Amino acid sequence: ADLNLQEIHDTLISVAHEAGRMMLAANPSDIEQGEKLNSVDIVTETDKAVENLVSSRLSTAYPTFAFVGEETYKPGIQITATPTFIVDPIDGTTNFVHGFPSACISLGLAVSRIPAVGVVYNPWQDTLYSAIRGQGAFVTVGAVWGLEGGKGRKNKLPLAKNPIPLTGLDKSLVSIEWGSQRDGVNYEVKTEVFKKLCAVKENGGAMVHSLRSMGSAALNLCAVAAGQLDVYWEGGCWAWDVCAGWCILSEAGGLVAGGNPGVWEPELDSRKYLAVRGAPSGQKEIVEEFWRVIGDETFH
Ligand code: IPD
Repeated sequence: ADLNLQEIHDTLISVAHEAGRMMLAANPSDIEQGEKLNSVDIVTETDKAVENLVSSRLSTAYPTFAFVGEETYKPGIQITATPTFIVDPIDGTTNFVHGFPSACISLGLAVSRIPAVGVVYNPWQDTLYSAIRGQGAFVTVGAVWGLEGGKGRKNKLPLAKNPIPLTGLDKSLVSIEWGSQRDGVNYEVKTEVFKKLCAVKENGGAMVHSLRSMGSAALNLCAVAAGQLDVYWEGGCWAWDVCAGWCILSEAGGLVAGGNPGVWEPELDSRKYLAVRGAPSGQKEIVEEFWRVIGDETFH
């Protein structure tokens, strides 16, 4: 049966606002933290409560769909061709814990393992990014509390393709993340690539304009979609970190390539991504230039 992507999108927006109120209500000083894999892989009671809320709302509305959420994920769970909600209840948990206002709920729907709907909502800045595959991407700033499902919003703007060509990494603002893995071979890959990105080129001049980290993969992708960042590279993040943002970025004219060289069409759960903003030219060239920088420093 044909899916009503518009209806799913509107449901996700309403759930995102409900979740947003829950996040804002959490008092940072009371946030109970737990650790997952290590001391920087943090989970809070709010992450779990938001995921509970989202999964119960979505399984009631769409009982035949699959659901993959960060806090209920178990190794071995696969994303299949079935319509699947892919959810990070709080993307940017470290920022959330510190009260740094760059965190969001990331709600994606993948159909045949391709992102089809994306909703990313940062309640601290009341900024909502949304997209339906084939129908463009939008940002809604200063949404009015209580008016859910997009009604009554006046500040919904299309994320139009950035008119400025991409002319190379040395003119780019590049986003990177440490992620939660701080040892082993992937730690070496990250430090080597970060070092190369901060270096001066042989002919003088810096390799990139500068480096940034939003602390949330979804917000990195949305900033690339908005043309605020040119490039975002990360290895180690998960499908729930990228599904929604990927849909938004694609609809804004951007592209997602693989975080390791040579991969033009990465899988949703490949966990290594290189995102480039929309532009009239220079997208593929910047991907190739980035891959040259990586060289043999490849993620495992
Ligand atoms: C993390 C954030 C972070 C990224 C990590 C993610 P979480 O998600 O997106 O920016 O570097 O790879 O795991 O744990 O805050 O949901």
